[in-house]
Amino acid sequence: MTPVERIITPRLVLRRPTLADVDAVFAYASDPAITKYMGWARHTSPQTTRAFLQMRDEEWEARGTGTFLVELGDTGAVIGSTGLHTYDDAPAATGYIIARPHWGHGYATEATRAMLDLARARNLRRVEAGCHPDNAASIRVLEKCGLVLKRSIPDHLMFPNLAGELQDFLLYAIDL
Ligand SMILES: CC(C)(COP(=O)(O)OP(=O)(O)OC[C@H]1O[C@@H](n2cnc3c(N)ncnc32)[C@H](O)[C@@H]1OP(=O)(O)O)[C@@H](O)C(=O)NCCC(=O)NCCS
Repeated sequence: MTPVERIITPRLVLRRPTLADVDAVFAYASDPAITKYMGWARHTSPQTTRAFLQMRDEEWEARGTGTFLVELGDTGAVIGSTGLHTYDDAPAATGYIIARPHWGHGYATEATRAMLDLARARNLRRVEAGCHPDNAASIRVLEKCGLVLKRSIPDHLMFPNLAGELQDFLLYAIDL
């Protein structure tokens, strides 16, 4: 299947990252306020971001899909990322992060719906997303996009940007 590397939605452009995106990605991936509940460790230097983009590129080469940067359609500014991640032995997964000045405009919802459309086009059967129970905005995005809570697991996972203890974990999914 030919990889879909660029998706245009009413207000956004979702596109495969390149190594030239280091500065734009570092800007949001290093922000403590918005990386708190992410499944990856906050970026501490542009070198971290470069290594991250390299890994994402390898995923794209291997799977034909992966992380998509979220750009504003009118300005081209990178405001965050989403993705569709596929695995041999597990359902596909999505997620998102949006820079704080751009919260509350429906961008995460618009981007996630596009990822679900892409999953349908690839004939995937299920898309999952994990979430911390305190991340109310993220839960709302998942529910607006039709994902439903499948499991609530106490003391399940270390979140790399939260100190020390195993955290409760919510698994959401949608059957396509
Ligand atoms: C989660 C996140 C991506 C949402 O981005 P966004 O573009 O603002 O999302 P949307 O505008 O599409 O939708 C947000 C919804 O959450 C609601 N919301 C926001 N804060 C909320 C809160 N504290 N409690 C309940 N609902 C909340 C909004 O009102 C909106 O719902 P509505 O359309 O019914 O009004 C953004 O907050 C973010 O980047 N957070 C940090 C990264 C993160 O946690 N990612 C998810 C990891 S699982």
